[in-house]
Amino acid sequence: MTATTDRIDAPATLASDQITTAERDHQVPLYAQRGLTLVRGEGAYLYDDTGRRYLDAMSNYGVAVLGHADPVFAAAIGDQLTTLTTCHQSFANDVRAELLLEIQEIAPAGLTRTFLSNSGAEAVEAALKFAIAATGRHRLVAARKGYHGRTLGALSVTAEVKYREPFEPLPIPATHVPFADADALAAAIDDETAAVILEPVQGEAGIFPADDAYLQAVRAICDERGVLLIMDEIQSGFRTGAWWASSHAGITPDILVTAKALANGFPIGLTLTTEAISGKIPSGAHGSTFGGNPLAARAALATLSQFRDLDLLARSAALGDELMAGLRGLNSPKVRDIRGRGLMIGVELKQRVTPTLKGLQERGVLVLPAGPLTFRLLPPLIWERQQVDELLDAMGEVLA
Ligand SMILES: Cc1ncc(COP(=O)(O)O)c(C=O)c1O
Repeated sequence: MTATTDRIDAPATLASDQITTAERDHQVPLYAQRGLTLVRGEGAYLYDDTGRRYLDAMSNYGVAVLGHADPVFAAAIGDQLTTLTTCHQSFANDVRAELLLEIQEIAPAGLTRTFLSNSGAEAVEAALKFAIAATGRHRLVAARKGYHGRTLGALSVTAEVKYREPFEPLPIPATHVPFADADALAAAIDDETAAVILEPVQGEAGIFPADDAYLQAVRAICDERGVLLIMDEIQSGFRTGAWWASSHAGITPDILVTAKALANGFPIGLTLTTEAISGKIPSGAHGSTFGGNPLAARAALATLSQFRDLDLLARSAALGDELMAGLRGLNSPKVRDIRGRGLMIGVELKQRVTPTLKGLQERGVLVLPAGPLTFRLLPPLIWERQQVDELLDAMGEVLA
């Protein structure tokens, strides 16, 4: 049978109120609503259902690193759609193999083994299972305010009480220690500890980059005590001017997880580990129907090739510095602190953040909250000086 391409069944065009009513009446109401219907994106901008343009300073929680409708990315996915979209890992596949080799180009030295999945939480689940299987121990040490996802395993190491409480007891015992306190971390490790899991830049907490010295101390403690170190780079990966935020400290974890940016919005999760750990995972102990599918692999390959062609690591480092300097230059009396690295920036206010988020949205700029007092900038990495200026203009008005 030959495919016909002369007809495209576009989704029905719903009126604005039909869209919001359908979303309100038929979804489990899990998400606080921003009062905006987004229907299209192009480059650094998003468009609502009335055609109004918004500067995207959030890239869907750090995902759309190439911005929206990137032509190279779209063409690669389009080509793969008419080649092969799905292929279980019990069969080899050319595109997946190419991605595995590309990942090795950017993986920290020694992390030669890959597990591909479909989201950040899934990448964390795999990391936790690998750590437990490899050590034969079950306890985790994680950081206060740390965020690792909301499936039951990932939730066990996520700190936020309001996410955890309805589901306790959680399946993996975890001790949460203050972030950036190596002594507290060392004291929490016992004979039952399989691994320590940390974000090198705490994201949901409000953008707190760990000091290099802290990460180095944690690496040394894990080595001394014989526990594994898992770096959660799901939000910080690709965004801080290096592939991995933890590499600024010169450390290599035993397991590294990433997701969001890797395929520019195509669902993917990546768990990287060593030969030694991989050798201790029994065959069949973990798996995923969709994981490693050629469509996601092609999306990731296109994303990585755009990173190189557009020099996005250097660009995010340079633009991040400009943006932080510009924000500091506003000298806003409402701002308590500005933190970050590359294009992962938090602005902590002296007051609750919601009115500022709303004010920016009214001025056509979308940013994210991170805790009650902080807003987060996770823009697409293809931003240019013009977008930095637009953001600073809007910030200047809202933070005056
Ligand atoms: C550091 C970190 N870990 C894990 C996750 C969970 O990823 P996902 O929402 O794709 O399951 C997130 C998502 O925000 C994250 O920021």
